Amino acid sequence: MLTTLFIALAITAVFAGVPSIDETKRMMDHLSDAEHYRNEHHNKQFDHDAFLGEDQAKSFDQLSPEESKRRLGVIVDKIDADKDGFVSLVELKDWIRYTQKRYIEEDVDRHWKQHNPNNDDLITWETYKKNVYGFMEGMSASDLKNNEGFTYTNLLKRDRRRWHYADSDKDDSLNRTEFGGFLHPEDHGSMRDIVVLETLEDIDKDKDGKVSLEEYIGDMYKPDEGETIEDEPDWVKQEREQFAGYRDTNKDGFMDEHEVKDWIAPPEFDHAEAEARHLVFEADSDADEKLTKEEILDKYDLFVGSQATDFGEALARHDEF
Ligand SMILES: *[C@@H]1O[C@H](CO)[C@@H](O)[C@H](O)[C@H]1NC(C)=O
Repeated sequence: MLTTLFIALAITAVFAGVPSIDETKRMMDHLSDAEHYRNEHHNKQFDHDAFLGEDQAKSFDQLSPEESKRRLGVIVDKIDADKDGFVSLVELKDWIRYTQKRYIEEDVDRHWKQHNPNNDDLITWETYKKNVYGFMEGMSASDLKNNEGFTYTNLLKRDRRRWHYADSDKDDSLNRTEFGGFLHPEDHGSMRDIVVLETLEDIDKDKDGKVSLEEYIGDMYKPDEGETIEDEPDWVKQEREQFAGYRDTNKDGFMDEHEVKDWIAPPEFDHAEAEARHLVFEADSDADEKLTKEEILDKYDLFVGSQATDFGEALARHDEF
């Protein structure tokens, strides 16, 4: 769904001559951050398209399978911090934390420079709006809409609201710290409420302000044509039970804002640890609770679709191989 939306936006952008692909991707990242954040079931295609961005996905896909594996092997040696030949859960968790941090810092840095070439202390909303949404001026309502019913106007409104949330001293300008919260709210505790709200809005297709069971399932699983509930894979059946048993705590048949918050942003939840546990569980063929390089290379696809390789991006970094 997001991929289609991204392509639709990108195509519109080409015809209208605006905005840049990079900006469109960032707008989509806004949407996909939250989506990925709550997506416990890894969808490789989604990770690739939405997270790598087209350029990076390309350079990584251009590597031969042998070269990709060789590079993953180099990364495994780095993850194994104590050099005992095994990747432990803690080493993997630390590594994932490190790649997350690096990705976010580089991303904020890049966007900060782009919107603020003179490196002033602050970016005003007006400057940001002009840079990103200036193309909207003079466009007709139909140009502003794409066939998914998603409009640039909605993206602008969402950015405007998020800007407010990030602007802690309410001067309508963001300094670098605040701008980091704006770009990556998932990484800032103070932005939790807006992440919850945007997530709820994304899933709530009928816009009644709450998430039904069908919206919850529809967000993570698209059945094939003619498929019935009985044909659904087990993990989807489990999600249905999760919804009734754990997500909808007040048992009214819906998830409201509080329930969405408990779901995607429980205060103590550690994403790096959850991801590390998931990877160890999936790759640990001999169940000794640590991974050898061989076990990791055997699950090459899993690791390339994970945060451990920055969703494959780490393999394509020019400075490391
Ligand atoms: C940005 O402003 C906030 C207060 O709104 C402050 O806490 C933070 O340290 C500032 N960051 C920078 C880089 O100046």
